[in-house]
Amino acid sequence: MSKPELAVLKYPVILTVIMNKGGVGKTTTCANIAAALSETRPTGNRFRIGVIDLDPQTNLSCVLGLDELQEKHGDDLVTIAEFLDVDNEDIPVDEFFYRVDRPFFDNRLSLLPGHIDLESLKDDLEYEMKSKSPLRGKSKEDGFANSYDVGAFEQKKAQLFLGYRERLRQDLAGKFDYIVIDTPPSRGFLTQLALGLSDYVLPVMIPGTKEFDGLIMMEQLIADCWASYNPNLSVAGVLINNLFEREVLSKDIREMAKERYSGKELMLKTEIPRSVRIAEAISNDRTVFESEHRDAEVYRNIYRKLLSELYSRALTNKVNTTVSPQFFYDLHYGAEEVGEEQEMMGVVNE
Ligand SMILES: Nc1ncnc2c1ncn2[C@@H]1O[C@H](COP(=O)(O)OP(=O)(O)OP(=O)(O)O)[C@@H](O)[C@H]1O
Ligand SMILES: [Mg+2]
Repeated sequence: MSKPELAVLKYPVILTVIMNKGGVGKTTTCANIAAALSETRPTGNRFRIGVIDLDPQTNLSCVLGLDELQEKHGDDLVTIAEFLDVDNEDIPVDEFFYRVDRPFFDNRLSLLPGHIDLESLKDDLEYEMKSKSPLRGKSKEDGFANSYDVGAFEQKKAQLFLGYRERLRQDLAGKFDYIVIDTPPSRGFLTQLALGLSDYVLPVMIPGTKEFDGLIMMEQLIADCWASYNPNLSVAGVLINNLFEREVLSKDIREMAKERYSGKELMLKTEIPRSVRIAEAISNDRTVFESEHRDAEVYRNIYRKLLSELYSRALTNKVNTTVSPQFFYDLHYGAEEVGEEQEMMGVVNE
């Protein structure tokens, strides 16, 4: 009997890719980082990777074989909607993942597929929490949906997110080393949930000085989610994707970052260039690691370099150079102590 293969790390490290603007390359980044993570390490270790699609567009699921899964499992296919359904909380989380059956991944990568109806599920969850958070002296019959207790609601949300995070960590311990989460282009519930689940966040932006406004919104979202839902969140770094006029635009963004972040190394040094090879692979529902084009290796090497940089600053349990969201919190709200707020929200430090 063959020995069951176990994860290398004790607990899975959870990484979320975000940006509220559409089409910046979140899904492309998730797919290629997940592929890079699944390659053999120089140490000989090979990690086991889980991918979660929290975007109702289900683009990442399609890249990782959603069509084939639907064909094979039909109505029995389980998705993120079933995972989030509180009635299923006793089902071990690994049962929601499907192995991606492609030679490159060598059984190392699994997908928790997205669902196009995730928006309505999110509405149901919010409705449920609001209904349990009536204002003092008001009842359900008084129309709680429009006049609920915001503090109580936020506390319920924090507890819900923490519950999902604990389930992921406990149920996937020893089964996966890394979990990569894709998110929709919004600052809403699903992106907040992803930040509530994660150890690290990786905002992705495209070059352009206007794009910096999106990053500033992400700073605030990260700070808010850290303060309200997840004190264990860190910023892995900001990735520039789709770079085409390397010298000019990237330099502008770096100048703006230098000024705003006063010396803090937030921008990752590795930048992903605009490349037909990357775009072509994704449009064929493949990562660039599976491309047979002779130029593809150049881009695989860039993702490998990105991963080395991420390993050197984050993605491990060692002392790292990631940035605490406290830094963003101070930028947006002034230097304040958030401990009290976290306590009020019922967020418990691990
Ligand atoms: N480095 C790159 N070089 C060339 N094309 C790229 C690159 N990164 C992404 N693209 C292309 O840009 C388009 C949008 O990418 P992607 O779907 O990853 O963005 P997204 O941020 O996930 O979008 P959404 O917010 O809608 O989910 C895709 O067609 C993809 O092929
Ligand atoms: Mg996407």
